[in-house]
Amino acid sequence: MTSPASPIGVFDSGIGGLSVLQALRHELPHERFVYLADSGNAPYGDARGDAFVQQRTRTIARHLREQHQIKVLVIACNTATAAAVDMLRAEMPELPLIGVEPAIKPASLSSQTGHVGVMATRGTVSSARFARLVAEHGQRVQFHVQPCDGLAKAIEESTEQPVPADPMATEVAQLCARYVNALGSFGQKTGEMDSLVLGCTHYIFAREQLRTLLGPDIQFIDTGAPVARQTRRVLDRLGTLTSESGPLPAAEGQVQLMTTGSLQALQSAASRWLELPAQCCSSVQVGESSAVPAAA
Ligand code: DGL
Repeated sequence: MTSPASPIGVFDSGIGGLSVLQALRHELPHERFVYLADSGNAPYGDARGDAFVQQRTRTIARHLREQHQIKVLVIACNTATAAAVDMLRAEMPELPLIGVEPAIKPASLSSQTGHVGVMATRGTVSSARFARLVAEHGQRVQFHVQPCDGLAKAIEESTEQPVPADPMATEVAQLCARYVNALGSFGQKTGEMDSLVLGCTHYIFAREQLRTLLGPDIQFIDTGAPVARQTRRVLDRLGTLTSESGPLPAAEGQVQLMTTGSLQALQSAASRWLELPAQCCSSVQVGESSAVPAAA
């Protein structure tokens, strides 16, 4: 049984969904959160394939329900949403679900030049959901789509290293430069892309490098804040919002972070990006995670 006091479950292939958790905590500061990073199996989006991502999403959703009695699950991963949200809705109709999708619609409404760049994982951009989204909103705007192999992995690995003195001298920056160049011309002139959709929750943590490459005028669009507002609406409708009248909880009681991969990497990402203490983090084994090999 869930109640307003039950936690919100948040899950990603790794640390990328922390960007969504950040927006959720901002929108819902009285809620409790249980975050699961499947870093032992990341990345999902380069070559894992739908069947693997579906199996992991199912196993993790079950784990969060059974071990933590979550009242709602936020799939803070575009790749897992694309591959598994319909399956999960059909298999667990009683679990309220919120997925994330690249911000194609907001970008189509805000672009002035009518050209928008989209960076996302190969898994996301080759999905039927993504094709539908682009077809639906692609009349007014031309979307330039770039699968970014290796970028989520490089961001994931960067958390195991010390904060770099020069963020542009990193593998993350090199990959950003390669993919930005492949997309084409950014700017405010006719035919140029004036907006960039960050279609993978990891890429928000490469914002600094992308900003350096693209300059101050290109609009970056992600879905953290809209997903957080949607989560509030769902909880409100279900009558399971936590009372917002009491004092704000301390971070240690409010957020529990778990990883199937390196605990130290999660602790350093949590501290670097969310200013959360190491004691919020722990290791977890969920299903046969690391026993399942990546697809070739
Ligand atoms: N953070 C994920 C997304 O939003 C997936 C990255 C990956 O594991 O490939 O797509």
